[in-house]
Amino acid sequence: MNEFGIYVFSGTGNTLMCAEALKESLDHTGAASVLHEIRDGTEFAGEKDLIICYPVHGFNAPNMMLRFCRGIPEGRGSVWFLKTSGEPLRLNGNSSAELMKLLRKKGYSVMGEFHYIMPYNMVFRHSDEMASLMWETARERITEAAEQIAAGKNRAIHPSVPAKAMSLLCRIEHRFYPANGRLYRVDPDRCVKCMKCVKNCPASNITYEDGRFRFGRNCSGCVRCSFGCPEGAIHIGLLEFMRVNGTYDFSRDPEKAEIGRYCRRSYIRYFAGRDE
Ligand SMILES: Cc1cc2nc3c(=O)[nH]c(=O)nc-3n(C[C@H](O)[C@H](O)[C@H](O)COP(=O)(O)O)c2cc1C
Repeated sequence: MNEFGIYVFSGTGNTLMCAEALKESLDHTGAASVLHEIRDGTEFAGEKDLIICYPVHGFNAPNMMLRFCRGIPEGRGSVWFLKTSGEPLRLNGNSSAELMKLLRKKGYSVMGEFHYIMPYNMVFRHSDEMASLMWETARERITEAAEQIAAGKNRAIHPSVPAKAMSLLCRIEHRFYPANGRLYRVDPDRCVKCMKCVKNCPASNITYEDGRFRFGRNCSGCVRCSFGCPEGAIHIGLLEFMRVNGTYDFSRDPEKAEIGRYCRRSYIRYFAGRDE
């Protein structure tokens, strides 16, 4: 039986949660799949059909996912995309374009994408209730996605013109993140030297030598280091004013979620499923 290769890049866990739920739902349909978490240097394992999962970074797919997909050899299988983003804006609609073009050129049939809104790991913090509502919504929809994928159904996407323009404009971010990564700093008064950042960086970009943390030129901008730092000790260069620290509690009552003023109409539309 054919196995789906689920390839996930996830900075702070949102996309990984969704990809794991997708794998579980695929298992229920009887479709076999293998989940691979991507770090720098992860190699393609050779499955015929692919599910590429990533968080939207600056209206595009992260650098790390682009690099991984460039390394996939030519193939004749199908590819789906699963992406998460903090905002339900239609401006996020063209983020898979570069990956789609790349994989089409390699011979893959692009089947479409699934987009789930998960709590922001940047810009501002959602409430835990809102995070729980997002997660519950995604989980329900992921079950349907798995059925569609297992049945080989096409799910075309139609990005708007502003979404296309936005993703093109923001491709500059791919150069910005590695440069900004050089500006990351650890606050010595807060750091407890747990080395979580060094161990967990998916780009192996953080080292600790002679009592000092060093940030290399390979930052993917995923913010796993600063978001997951137990002491909130990592400053993220020019993006410091948007830093969010600490994981969400997804076990709160989603019914108590209050949709704030920020992008209110888009969130309401998303939760009501009107983008489907
Ligand atoms: C550098 C960076 C850029 C981001 N850009 C966007 C964006 O353009 N649009 C958006 O809706 N969310 C954006 N986000 C939010 C993430 O896409 C969102 O929180 C996602 O669920 C994080 O997934 P992860 O936990 O798997 O990394 C950005 C986050 C980061 C760290």
